[in-house]
Amino acid sequence: MALPQEFLQELKARCNIEDVISQYVQLKRAGSNLVGCCPFHSERTPSFTVFRNNENFYCFGCGAGGDVITFTMKMENVDYMTAIEHLAARAGLTVPEDPSSIKARVNKERYFEMNKLAARFFYDALIAPENQQALNYISQRGLSLQTIKRFGIGYADTSWDSLTGYLMSKGFEKEEIRNGFLAGVSQKTGRLFDYFRGRIMFPIFDLSGNVIAFGGRIIGDGTPKYLNSSDTPVFKKSRNLYALNHAKNNTDSSLILCEGYMDVVALQQAGFVNAVATLGTALTSEQTRIIARYANTVYLCYDSDEAGQRASKRAIDMLGEVGVKVKVVTVEGAKDPDEYIKKYGKTSFEKLLRGSDGHIEYTIKNISAKYNLSVPEQKLAFLDECCNMLAGVASEIEREIFVQRISVDTGISAEIIRNETKKRQQKSRRQAERNAVRDDINKSIGYGDRVNADSAKNLSTVKKEENLLGLFLMRPEFIENPTLSNLVTEDIFGCEFTKKVWREIVRNAQALKEGETTFGDAFTPDEMGRITQMTVRRRELANNSESVAIELAESLKKEADRKKDDDGSEESFFKRIEELKKTKK
Ligand code: GTP
Ligand code: MN
Repeated sequence: MALPQEFLQELKARCNIEDVISQYVQLKRAGSNLVGCCPFHSERTPSFTVFRNNENFYCFGCGAGGDVITFTMKMENVDYMTAIEHLAARAGLTVPEDPSSIKARVNKERYFEMNKLAARFFYDALIAPENQQALNYISQRGLSLQTIKRFGIGYADTSWDSLTGYLMSKGFEKEEIRNGFLAGVSQKTGRLFDYFRGRIMFPIFDLSGNVIAFGGRIIGDGTPKYLNSSDTPVFKKSRNLYALNHAKNNTDSSLILCEGYMDVVALQQAGFVNAVATLGTALTSEQTRIIARYANTVYLCYDSDEAGQRASKRAIDMLGEVGVKVKVVTVEGAKDPDEYIKKYGKTSFEKLLRGSDGHIEYTIKNISAKYNLSVPEQKLAFLDECCNMLAGVASEIEREIFVQRISVDTGISAEIIRNETKKRQQKSRRQAERNAVRDDINKSIGYGDRVNADSAKNLSTVKKEENLLGLFLMRPEFIENPTLSNLVTEDIFGCEFTKKVWREIVRNAQALKEGETTFGDAFTPDEMGRITQMTVRRRELANNSESVAIELAESLKKEADRKKDDDGSEESFFKRIEELKKTKK
């Protein structure tokens, strides 16, 4: 997509790269640049550099790099246009729309409208006298009318086409209804049929209050118990959380994370307005990032069964990675939070929250449940697992607290456990260093290079190609130089990636004449990292004149020509053999 150059300049001016990155990374001055610990790989000594003069960043450790837009894409895990919108909102700018994106937006609005109508349709059906049994079911599950309204809960009746018929009468196309995951198409008749039938309906809202999807629970027994919308043009399961639209307004920056819709609704009804759930999937890394935006503590409140406990372990690690503190709520005497609240009431649940274990405590409990500490071998295995786990805990104070605890539990002196933990820490640090060195070596020989897969073929040529591209990226006006424009064509580049960069430089130069720029969305953030590397490396060299570019281009052209000749001679060699064979006959 092409955006007006003026807009992008304005955007970058208002979203100063230093300010934006400072929101995520603690930056220190280093000469005219700023450095910090890279948010994209783990490191202790800062190799993440922000170049203030050039408004871009580059990590000498992992090769991530780009401008403020690339940074936002990587950090927020979003695509180019979403990153632009995010930054524009921050700067108070409106993204100029081109005709195709206006169409996409109108399209989205239609899906929102369709979903809203469907949600109302379901709600009306729930309170209709003929569907008394549906309302009975919900009341029997303990939900008040107020809660039903607050969550927009409804009922999809057992008919095969009531919703479809309604939506079509409102002017929605078959295609839209189907793409919105509200109906399927019968293979036999080609007619639409409602997906949700005989189910209690939970609308899923985005943070702006649009209905983006549904979850439907069957009344009573039956399969599947829950039917959830698949991804649609306005819904991505992995990027949304149920009830976050309510929970985000909670002020104590904590969230209660549950497994099911009913858990959330029951908890919220009992006054725990910070309850949310994933949408019928395991926690995703996109969701953990969203969570980190709204909470610094998460109370994990998964089902008490084995699957729930396994899911807890995974969630602890994932939330730890985004810096969210985890407390694990053990729901005892009930299958899940919903059942617990019903059985024991909200005060008991509050106690449960207050008494919840920190994640280390929870993990130690889990480990100790596996072993009988009065058997020496088992005690050893317990200590082994505990020391490994503690070695991964960053805070020394936290580590010490648990060293003491384990010492009491096992009767082994704290000193021994502390030393053993330290040994393992050192071991894993050494391992990490070895890995880093190995990565560097692999990178330098171009092995497993994901951005430029061809780079292993001829490293010195690739270096030259990247050098030349770096010059053009730094000094776009070089493209106007007649000698250079004669010399440099796609053919002189030997890799798919460097060819592509060159094509995009040319395309962008064309667009710039129209006041637009196309460079940004042509590359993935990884590729942008490599492109930034080209300019950073080039910038480090003193001489960046046109004559250097000409020299590089001439040398590359020579190599390309020679390669052509080689290919040619090889061809003729085989031809000669063929001919010889013929004459022999
Ligand atoms: P209730 O029996 O209504 O209390 O359900 P629950 O909220 O206790 O849900 P459960 O623990 O059985 O499942 C947790 C979540 O997993 C649900 O909210 C759904 O999102 C999802 N889920 C459960 N069963 C199914 C199923 O059969 N299919 C799909 N796709 N998702 C399901
Ligand atoms: Mn339940």
